[in-house]
Amino acid sequence: MNTRKRVLVTGAGGFIGHHLVARLKEEGYWVRGADIKLPEYEGSAADDFLLVDLRKYDNCLVATRGGIDQVYNLAADMGGIGYITAAHAEIARNSVLINAHMLEASRLNDVKRFLFSSSACVYAGCKQTSSDVVPLREEDAYPADPEPGYGWEKLFTEELCRYYRRDYKFETRIVRFHNVYGPLGTYEGGKEKAPAAISRKVVLAQDYGNIEIWGDGEQTRSFMYVDDCVEGLVRLMTSNYPEPLNLGTHRLISINGLVDLISKIAGKHLVKRHDLGKPQGVRGRNSDNTRLNEVLGWAPSISLEVGLDITYKWVKSELAKAGRLQPHPFASHGQGSQCQG
Ligand SMILES: NC(=O)c1ccc[n+]([C@@H]2O[C@H](COP(=O)([O-])OP(=O)(O)OC[C@H]3O[C@@H](n4cnc5c(N)ncnc54)[C@H](O)[C@@H]3O)[C@@H](O)[C@H]2O)c1
Repeated sequence: MNTRKRVLVTGAGGFIGHHLVARLKEEGYWVRGADIKLPEYEGSAADDFLLVDLRKYDNCLVATRGGIDQVYNLAADMGGIGYITAAHAEIARNSVLINAHMLEASRLNDVKRFLFSSSACVYAGCKQTSSDVVPLREEDAYPADPEPGYGWEKLFTEELCRYYRRDYKFETRIVRFHNVYGPLGTYEGGKEKAPAAISRKVVLAQDYGNIEIWGDGEQTRSFMYVDDCVEGLVRLMTSNYPEPLNLGTHRLISINGLVDLISKIAGKHLVKRHDLGKPQGVRGRNSDNTRLNEVLGWAPSISLEVGLDITYKWVKSELAKAGRLQPHPFASHGQGSQCQG
């Protein structure tokens, strides 16, 4: 039990932050959440929840007051590939303000440890040009050629964490997430990412119907279930490793493969329609977990089959609650809403 440890989770109204708060509460921490919005799908388990805009320095000072020991800084302006390629200036500006102000406020309020959530989008584009990509080691972020906007901001904040460690002896930790998915993540509206977006499309598609896929679907990624992500976060916070660390799986799968997996879970036969005009990001990206294994003595282990099954069922139940499931085409009139998906 860590009853005396006080933890701040920024981005606690978002997907990973919400799960992290629940996990820290289970472990006995006192937890404050901070976000510009409340969690969308269920209430937060936090002891204290501040609804604040963390781009503003004064709000960061308030959030880090009161003897906070650890800060998990997850707040960011982010979304899937459609979102992060559409608004470079806004995304980079919003997140750089959050991160610079959160670092300084944490230091001044004597926070003991600060964890920054970076991203695989920091990796150099020239090392991700093939579907059959070589898994990315931490040093592959340099020479720098990250994703415009979002990736540059993450890489800059990684550097800022280093400067704070060197100049102020302020303890920072840096994690690079690779595609996290699971229940309670945004599944529509523009900020959703591939596993949630595909789950939604599969739920809403008729058996033997069409499904729209961005790009030719041969772009590849690795995906990590949110419980593994939270486990890795807690382990990294307590470790003594200050350099950027990958946190992801190294099972490479194409987007077409992901659609096939989710369709199988749903028991549906779908025809893929590829939209080559839509953004698809780098051609291939995978996580090299050698250092993760060395540093944490652990690596994510929840399989895609298990994680996607849970995620698909959650998206389906949300769409059912919203009355969005199609009546079964063979249901006779008056049978009520026999749903498929
Ligand atoms: N989910 C992934 O696959 C993934 C991959 C790489 C990196 N990350 C990083 O992990 C962190 C958490 O990601 P997530 O998937 O939970 O995203 P999310 O969008 O669900 O959560 C981010 C939260 O930050 C909050 N936020 C944005 N602007 C704010 C502001 N001005 N003030 C206060 N709160 C603000 C949002 O409201 C949101 O709730 C982010 O830093 C993200 O960049 C996530």
